[in-house]
Amino acid sequence: MPHTETFYNYRDLIAGADIKVPLKNGRLVPAINFDNAATTPPFNYVMEKINSFSPYYSSIHRGTGFKSKLSSDAYEMSRNIICNFVHCNSKKNTVIYVNNTTEAINKLSYIFSDLYEGSIILSTRMEHHSNDLPWRSKFKVDYVEVDELGKLSLSDLKYKLRKHHGKVKLVCVTGASNVTGYKNPIYKIAKIAHSHGAEILVDGAQLVPHYPIYMEQQSKEESIDYLAFSAHKMYAPFGIGVLIGPKNTFYNASPEYSGGGTIKVVTDDYVLWDDPPGKNEAGTPNVLGVTALTSSIKVLNKLSINSIDKREMDIYNYALGKMLQLPDITIYCDTNPSCNKVAILPFNIKGIHHETTAKLLSDLSGISVRSGCFCAHPYVQRLLGLSPEEINYFKTHFNNFHPGIVRLSFGLYNTYNEVDTLIDTLKKIIKNKK
Ligand code: ALA
Repeated sequence: MPHTETFYNYRDLIAGADIKVPLKNGRLVPAINFDNAATTPPFNYVMEKINSFSPYYSSIHRGTGFKSKLSSDAYEMSRNIICNFVHCNSKKNTVIYVNNTTEAINKLSYIFSDLYEGSIILSTRMEHHSNDLPWRSKFKVDYVEVDELGKLSLSDLKYKLRKHHGKVKLVCVTGASNVTGYKNPIYKIAKIAHSHGAEILVDGAQLVPHYPIYMEQQSKEESIDYLAFSAHKMYAPFGIGVLIGPKNTFYNASPEYSGGGTIKVVTDDYVLWDDPPGKNEAGTPNVLGVTALTSSIKVLNKLSINSIDKREMDIYNYALGKMLQLPDITIYCDTNPSCNKVAILPFNIKGIHHETTAKLLSDLSGISVRSGCFCAHPYVQRLLGLSPEEINYFKTHFNNFHPGIVRLSFGLYNTYNEVDTLIDTLKKIIKNKK
């Protein structure tokens, strides 16, 4: 029985899990956060580690004092922790710290434009803008289509790779969609991409916090070449993200940012770049961000990512089952409980604009969700079935009641009781709609 489950101790891990927020009528209620795909709250353990490390915090790679050495060592040693977490080969790959997934992918796009000018990039119609726009500005980009349920079409992937006759250098694909939660078959996609001479970049922002990832596969063909993800979606909100990829790529390309920390030698007329990852981390590194991330990984490993996935999907399926019984709800993903996905549930109430539903959830019950197009406009346009005329109209009328979806995204600390509150609130909203 869901209500007697023993998972409530997960809440003790979370800073502010039981904090109260005001409703529209001023009453204070416990905040319910169903917006974990955007950002997760910090683990208490992460906050403790930030505080306990703070007295030792000092400059990285730039000082000779004890604290500076300690900070530099912690920073450098963290790369192995990251590698182990995503099962990558640390001899072959480099772990580059950035601010977030968006910066990671932008960085890679500059590296690729230096190395492979004139080649073709294959993205997909289900990507977050961060795995689309950085490529558009530098390459000819083609897109793998999605089917009527919004799932990636592998036959279109194969078709597009054949069509471009070996000119595709990189297939950019999300590990899990931030809109529908669908997990893509990344190892299968890697094999297909490699068989056509392309590499693969996985946007892991929505996958890494929720599901195990094995960059290095037994078969090289199925291995993931590049991975990007953000700590702020994994309970470590201190402005750190990760880009992992083969050292050789970064040796061979100029860094897109240059400056402090990126060089071995500079003279009046000469620059010798540092080796990666130093070459690719301009400016003073974010050691507190890295401390947050490695602390969060410690907790995630302790809980086990497989248990987290099960926990989140149990909550998701509980919510899905209840939502399917409500009148006037449209759900924008495959509602089969065995669908391969992370715990994201996109929906609308018929006749109510997505922003209104989101606002009412907050006003009436203190429930946070995200609504809109989730930085994935082309994908949401497809999920909503917008016509070309409608899409054209919103090109110039983007402030006018823009179409969109309401998104629930669950974290490991969400509870069945919170879902019950959601369902009761939705019932009220549906009952009172005009
Ligand atoms: N990409 C994040 C989201 O989907 C910010 O909300």
